[in-house]
Amino acid sequence: MTTLAILTAAGSGSRLGRDLPKALVELDGFPLVLHAARRLVASDVVDSLVVTAPDGLVGIMTELLANDPRVQIPVEVTDGGPTRQASVSAGLELARPGDDVVLVHDAARPLVPPDLVRRVVGAVRNGHGAVVPGLPVTDTVKQVRPDGDAELVTGTPDRSILRAVQTPQGFDRDLLVRAHRTGAARALAEHLAATDDAGLVEALGEPVYIVAGDAAAFKITTERDLWLASLVLQETNA
Ligand code: C5P
Repeated sequence: MTTLAILTAAGSGSRLGRDLPKALVELDGFPLVLHAARRLVASDVVDSLVVTAPDGLVGIMTELLANDPRVQIPVEVTDGGPTRQASVSAGLELARPGDDVVLVHDAARPLVPPDLVRRVVGAVRNGHGAVVPGLPVTDTVKQVRPDGDAELVTGTPDRSILRAVQTPQGFDRDLLVRAHRTGAARALAEHLAATDDAGLVEALGEPVYIVAGDAAAFKITTERDLWLASLVLQETNA
């Protein structure tokens, strides 16, 4: 009975505007992928890691993780795919026989608190097959469609029943495998929005549960996010 974490790090991160894949961009002197890996390991509930690397960077990422004194669990680095979903599928292929719980976490969320990782794994081990951290939505959200040179608002969903979801998302291993095989095909055929792994589980018609997320697990997309992350780190190291 072991927990595998798949750490997706194969994206280009073009919105950051660096000539480096996002996972290798440094924050406080260390690449984002290393920050994320360290926090997964610090949770003490992750037994091994599979990291998906961008084209040609398996060697560099393997060395980076193998030489880090704070990543003292087995790590395998594999080539990612052309999409995040393909990268997760590639990582899932490397699950070992005893791995009954699988976490999927984005290197783009480097400051995930270990407590959040424990919360997700705990909920899966308590019998919830698919668990996602989520936060209340504080902005009012509009549904729109294109209309000439602008967009027309077609509705305002009740934000009290919306959650902004984060990673790591946690799954019963067999359910996640089924979601990537059958759920992905169904989502495509039925035009369902499956932009995360939980979405593939939803496409199977299986329940997905939310546990409390954490603002510190925010996603790095732009240069401003990196700046915010360095401020958060300074504050927590102070
Ligand atoms: O691009 P975005 O930030 O949404 O990507 C989310 C995560 O998925 C990132 O950690 C990125 O490295 C990963 N990813 C991947 N393989 C891809 C695309 C994205 O592992 N082909």
